[in-house]
This record gives sequence, C-alpha cells and structure tokens, in this order.
Amino acid sequence: MTDYKEKNWKIEEDADGIVWLHLDKADSKTNVLSADVLAEFETLLDAFSNQPPRGLIILSDKDSGFIAGADVKEFTAFSTEQEAREAIERGHRIMNRLESLSCPTVAMLTGFTLGGGLELALACKYRVADNDPATRIGLPEVKLGIHPGFGGTVRCLERTGVLNGMDLMLSGRSISARAAQKMRLIDYAVPRRHLREAARACVQNPPKQKSLPVWNNLLNYKKVRPLLAKVFIKKVAARANRAHYPAPYALIDLWVQHYGDRDTMLHAEAASVAHLITGKTAQNLVRVFMLQEQLKGLGRLPDYVPRHVHVIGAGVMGGDIAAWCALQGFTVTIQDTQPEALGRVIQRAYSLYKKRLKQKRPITATLDRLMPDLDGDGLVKADVVIEAIFEDAEVKRQLFRDIEPRLKPETLIATNTSSIPLEDLANALNNPERLVGLHFFNPVAMMPLIEIVHGKQTSETTQNRASAFARKINRLPLPVTSSPGFLVNRVLMPYLMEAVVLAEEGVPLSVIDKAATDFGMPMGPIELADTVGLDICLKVAEILSRYMDIEVPGILQDKVSRKNLGKKSGAGFYTFAKGKAVKPEPDKQYTPATDLQDRLIMRMLNEVVACQRDQVVENGDLADAGIIFGTGFAPFRGGPVHYIKERGPEQLEKLLNNLMHNHGDRFKPDAGWSTLIKQTP
Ligand code: NAI
Repeated sequence: MTDYKEKNWKIEEDADGIVWLHLDKADSKTNVLSADVLAEFETLLDAFSNQPPRGLIILSDKDSGFIAGADVKEFTAFSTEQEAREAIERGHRIMNRLESLSCPTVAMLTGFTLGGGLELALACKYRVADNDPATRIGLPEVKLGIHPGFGGTVRCLERTGVLNGMDLMLSGRSISARAAQKMRLIDYAVPRRHLREAARACVQNPPKQKSLPVWNNLLNYKKVRPLLAKVFIKKVAARANRAHYPAPYALIDLWVQHYGDRDTMLHAEAASVAHLITGKTAQNLVRVFMLQEQLKGLGRLPDYVPRHVHVIGAGVMGGDIAAWCALQGFTVTIQDTQPEALGRVIQRAYSLYKKRLKQKRPITATLDRLMPDLDGDGLVKADVVIEAIFEDAEVKRQLFRDIEPRLKPETLIATNTSSIPLEDLANALNNPERLVGLHFFNPVAMMPLIEIVHGKQTSETTQNRASAFARKINRLPLPVTSSPGFLVNRVLMPYLMEAVVLAEEGVPLSVIDKAATDFGMPMGPIELADTVGLDICLKVAEILSRYMDIEVPGILQDKVSRKNLGKKSGAGFYTFAKGKAVKPEPDKQYTPATDLQDRLIMRMLNEVVACQRDQVVENGDLADAGIIFGTGFAPFRGGPVHYIKERGPEQLEKLLNNLMHNHGDRFKPDAGWSTLIKQTP
C-alpha cells in the first residue's frame, strides 16, 4: 500500500509493512468522531479487510490528543429515535469491523482519549499511551446524559472487569495513563519518546492479553448481577435522581440484563443510547456543554499573556483568589495591612495544594509562586491587580488613588466587589477605562464561574482581557453589566429569602430543601444559605433590598446577631457535625403545601426575567450559562430561560399571579413576562 491522504485521515506505510493511520480532522483543533471522519474510516477499514497490512497503528496528529469523543453537535440533530439508532449502529458496525481485522491493531494514545475515542481504542487489540500527566483517558458520556454507545460498555467491562469498568463509566471521570494501565484499560503506559516503539512492538511481538482475576467472573454471574447492581444504584442515587438523570441507571440495567451475551448486549446498548440521546435530559445536558463552550470562547485572546497577579486584601476571598491563581501557574503577590492575614493565606493555600497536587515537589513549587507582600512591592510588576478589601466604596477609592501611579500603563485593574457600582469606584482613577469587575464566588476553588463586570467606563480591551484572564485561571467568564447583584446573586437571593420565609412560617427545613432538590437543585436553599454563611447572605440581601423587592426575614437577622452563621460556626438553620448538616426528619403526619416548590422556583424565574429585561447579560443563553455555573441550577433542565420557554411563559405568569394572590406582592410578575409572551410563538 502506498502513502495516501483522505480529508481527515493519512496513511503512512513503513518499511516493515506496518500501516500508521493518522487522524487529523480537517478544520479542527481537536479530533472528534464526526460522521465524515467515521465514513472515511469505514472505507479505509474495507480496504484493510481485503488486504490486511502487517499491522495497523492508529494515532493522532493533533497536539490536543488522540480523539476527544463523538461530535457532540451531531447529538442534537437526530429528529427521531430511529434516526439516532441508525447512526449509532453504523458506529457499531465500524468498531466491530476494526475489532475483527486479522492483523494486530494498536491505538497509540496521547492527550485526550475520551468517549468514542476510547471506544475506538478499545476495539483495537492493544492500547499504548503516553504516560505524561496531559494524557486523560475516560468515558464521560454520563455527563451528557447517555452512556458509551459504540460498543464501549461491553468492551470496557471485558477489559477492566465490572468494578473498575462500572466505576469509570458511572462517574464519567477521566484517569491518567498509569491508572488506566493498572485497571487494564490500556496495555502499556510509556514515556512519549518510547511510544512509537511500544506500538511497533505490539505488532511485531504481540504480547499475551492479560486476563482478569477469577473473582471478576463470579461478580458477572447472572444471579450475582442484580445483587451487585443494588450497590451501584445506591451509589448513583446519592448523586443523581433517576427521574432526572436516567443514563447511569440504564447502564446498570444493560449489564444486569445482558452481560455475557455479547451480541445482544451490543444491540441493547445501541437501542438504549438512541433512546437516551433523543430524550430531554441528554438534549439539555448537551445544551449545557455547548453553553460552557460558548463561555470559554468569550475568553479567547491568544496575544494576551499575563504572568504576574497582585491581590490586595488577604481575607476570605483575596486569599483564596491568590492561592488559586498560583495553582494555575501565575506568579502571585498578596498584600494586606495585617501580617497575620497573610500567614493565614499561606496556610489555607497549603491545604488546597496538598489536596490537589498531593506530591511534595509540585506543592513546594506552587507555594514558591505565592508571595506575601506587606508593602505592595508586586504592584510595579503586576499584569493584573485584583482588589478584594472591605466592601466600602470610600476605602476602595482611596486604595485605587494610591496604587494607580505605581502600576504599568497596561495593567488590568480589577475589583471583586459584590455590590458597589463600578462607576462609583472608577472615578478615583485617572484612567477609569482600566477598571473591571472580576466577581469570584466563594469557595473560589470550587466555583467555576467569574462574572466579568463592565461599568459604563470599562473599555472593550479591558473587558476582553478580563475574560481572557478568567480562562487562563481555568474559570468561565460571564460578562455582566454593573447593576445591583449582577446576575447570580440577584437571581439567587429572592429564592434563598423565600426559603427563609418558609422556615419562618414553620415549614420543616428538610422539607424546604427537598422541594428544591426534587426540582433538580444540587443542594437545598437552606443548606446552601448555611454553607455560604448567613452573615454573607444577610449582607447581600440587605444591599439588594435597597434596589429590589426583597424583604429580609427577621429570623435571618436574628440568627446572625446570635452568631449562628451556618456551617462555619457549627450552626445556622441546621447544626453541623463533621462539616455535614444534620437534618431532622419531619413529622410523619406532615404534608407540605402543594405550592411549596413553585414558591421557591418562581421567585427565581421572575428575577431571571427581570434581569433579561434589564439586559444584565447579553442574551438568554448567557443567562442560562451564568445561572447554571453560578448557582448549580438543575443542569438537566437546560437553564432557567430554556425552562421558561419549555413550560410556556404565559402559563408561568399565571402561576405567579396565583402566588401573588395567595402570598403577597413579592410574586408580582415582572414587566418582562409580557415581552416574553409576545415573543413566544
Ligand atoms: P474580608 O473581610 O474577609 O477580607 C478583607 C481583607 O482586606 C482583610 O484581610 C483586611 O485586612 C484587608 N484590607 C482592608 N483594607 C485594606 C487595604 N487598604 N489594603 C490592604 N488590605 C486591606 O473580606 P472578603 O469577604 O474577602 O471580601 C472582600 C471583597 O470581596 C469585598 O469587596 C466583598 O464584597 C467581595 N466578595 C466577597 C464574597 C464572600 O463570599 N465573602 C464573595 C464575592 C465577593
């Protein structure tokens, strides 16, 4: 066979007759198994079946890695389950054909090998992988509301055994090459420089396939499977409600029903994925994935390369922001008037790094990048300055007056204020267009979103750089206008306050929380308020109550004045034991009011509509993205704006009117509903 090039694939035949099949998807930075990539692959496999080479080695020409998965965009294009099934069965046919080639086949894995990419690799006889930390291997399909669908369920379980395989597929996590070797998902993890040789050796001296321990067979016995399934289900149920996230349950079912009968299980896998992929959950989770990509896209600014971050204010937020930036590779100086505050930052940073980095050398290297700086010497070198001092406009203004003359002209000046309009701070600067808000959320290391707040004076360059900086510290940027509460706190607060009102009315706390988790929130509002800190909730609510219709319930003020601040003080609404809320069971006779869930959710949705009317964010998609990544809003519902459209704005406005009639003016429908109703076909 001579060297040959298709649109996406390239064939190179070496002197030993081994074919090296390179995937280099056209017009894309990443390899994905789109329909055209698969179609060409099928044609190539036909040729290899007719005239088998000495060996076939599949590799990627992309820096990003082997194959990142199927083409997610194609998931939303199926109009019927039948259409989806045909596409999936085609994938099956291709993987089966690869598996049945008579020559040795090897997948050479680098970087991302995920989803369909790993399924393709599993259909090869051998897999070798670069053991660099950048290699990430996994089957993350459950995160998109499906499970592996190109024969991966069967092949993964066959290779790794049921315990490892189920854990990998049910969690959707990705693992290192070494971990993958340990669980037999791949055959060899070797340094990059030996990778080609390792692949070649698999062809020239095919090693014996490693077998699984005997007890794995016992776990797969027909009678044992339903028992073990109960354990899997219990674990899954702790994270995902079956009614909201059916995919992991479908995967467990597939194994229980069909394991051992390979062909039937493969057929059932295709049918199951076709069903899931055309269902609402998967369609909405794919939407969330795309929204995430959209936010990432807002931070693309390749020529902007900041290196040094200077944080002022070493409190709860500033300390964690500084620690996070150093973890992301930045040189960081942190300034505070209180030396003890700086000491606490280093301590907290050490705990974070220990958890994330585990090994001594990277922990030390990261700590070396985080420098306490009592006198603010870092200001002159900084590319980005983040102010996170007390929430007091005059104190902040004075600080900006002091520091501006010491900064380089191109330094980005950011404030983490959660309530002061940017315009009120910018007037302290000679160059007010340099000021932008970088509104982080607490806890910084856990929350993926940063609101990029632009005041009237903020220049476009400043705003774009701020978004790009957010990406560089691995966060999602959401541009918002400088209006009270921005987007996330403004939408969250009425919902939290309604929960507190319900608590004041005597509704058992766990009943309130359950109403929200039943809707799909990751945590109930009472537990969330306790986790954020009741003092913080009170402060934000008080500030927002000046601008919007929020009454701060007395019970909240009461708890804060008695220093019951929530998780951090050991008690708030709940008491906390070992960091977990102790939730008393409600009385068995207790029946919650039928409008309980509506009261919580509708206050939130009403505020979302108000934010759209006020154009806090540019469009509904960005509002959905911000609220999902900023509050955890039920991802399987695709975001609040999407949910409003699905339920119908007219019907929801009626619901608000009913709630207003029964519970008061705080449910008065925002003026924005009528516009929405007009826009809805
Ligand atoms: P904090 O009270 O924990 O820390 C403030 C720190 O700033 C203290 O260590 C103080 O010594 C230092 N400081 C005060 N004036 C200073 C000055 N002139 N120069 C240097 N250091 C000075 O406050 P926290 O909670 O970290 O809040 C900081 C900012 O972040 C505020 O603007 C707040 O609105 C905002 N924010 C707070 C969130 C939270 O959950 N706590 C969430 C998002 C934003």
